[in-house]
Amino acid sequence: MSAQGKYGINPHQRRGGTPIFKLIGEAKNRLRSVRHKIMVLSGKGGVGKTFVSSMLALALAEKGYRVAILDADVHGSSIPTVYNMNTRMYGSPDGSLLPAEGPLGVKVVATNLLLLSPDTPVIWRGPLKSRLLTEFLAKVEWGELDYLVIDLPPGTGDEAITVTQIISDMDGAIIVTAPSVLSETIVAKAINFVVKQRIPLLGIIENMAYFRCPKCGTVYHLLGKSTGEILAQKYGTRLLAKIPLDPLIGEALDRGEPYIVAYPEGEAAKAFREAVEKIIEIVEKEGGKKNYELKTG
Ligand SMILES: Nc1ncnc2c1ncn2[C@@H]1O[C@H](COP(=O)(O)OP(=O)(O)OP(=O)(O)O)[C@@H](O)[C@H]1O
Ligand SMILES: [Mg+2]
Repeated sequence: MSAQGKYGINPHQRRGGTPIFKLIGEAKNRLRSVRHKIMVLSGKGGVGKTFVSSMLALALAEKGYRVAILDADVHGSSIPTVYNMNTRMYGSPDGSLLPAEGPLGVKVVATNLLLLSPDTPVIWRGPLKSRLLTEFLAKVEWGELDYLVIDLPPGTGDEAITVTQIISDMDGAIIVTAPSVLSETIVAKAINFVVKQRIPLLGIIENMAYFRCPKCGTVYHLLGKSTGEILAQKYGTRLLAKIPLDPLIGEALDRGEPYIVAYPEGEAAKAFREAVEKIIEIVEKEGGKKNYELKTG
């Protein structure tokens, strides 16, 4: 039996499957056991959404929170690679799915954990991707969680719409950007999407913001001038972190160890922990939703 058939996501079974409205109801029920839900997005590809969301989840787990990450990038599922996971997700007899366990006990749900081989392409159009994400949210045994972090693919298409429509009590969205002339337009698209969906904006993370020479300490702006603070001010939100470009990030990835675990004292690791403190402050203390209401009047 194929992995897809075994786990109930075979597109050919769709017509006879659970009606979508029932699945959405199931998802909303299941997600009641998750205290905080945070999505990570950007208008642009390759700016580090997956890196940021995977490290934020680990930084939360380091603090003792019960954390899960949903890799909502159906075509480009890459959280299992970043976490160097060789496991799969398994189904239980009642039709639910069990998340796989990643580093620091983070629960991981990802398309790639369902495929027989990680390089199998998922050749699906929008409706099937939306269906899969809805099934993930409805059928996964999330259990009691403090945080669910959602890593979205680039843009504001099917995956982002599905996730935001189902999770109507999203605590907030984090926008990832990188320095470049393109950033402003891209950040604006993602922010406008978040505002239109009435999701609280938790803040911006500027990734690849600068490079600090490990030998002499000189700071270089390799991708262009860092504009994190200016952008945050312009869009009425906060800069949660500036993450440097660091060759050790790629080196840790190649070695199969998540960066924050491999280099806990690294500059980027510290920046993630500071971002997590700010995020906790916003969602747990200030209340992300209240904050949103205030900003948008
Ligand atoms: N601050 C950084 N320093 C060095 N390398 C980084 C940094 N941030 C991300 N990278 C690397 O850049 C590449 C792209 O990052 P990532 O996959 O997280 O981007 P993405 O926005 O999720 O991409 P996609 O749009 O395809 O989902 C990865 O190889 C990642 O390890
Ligand atoms: Mg990604």
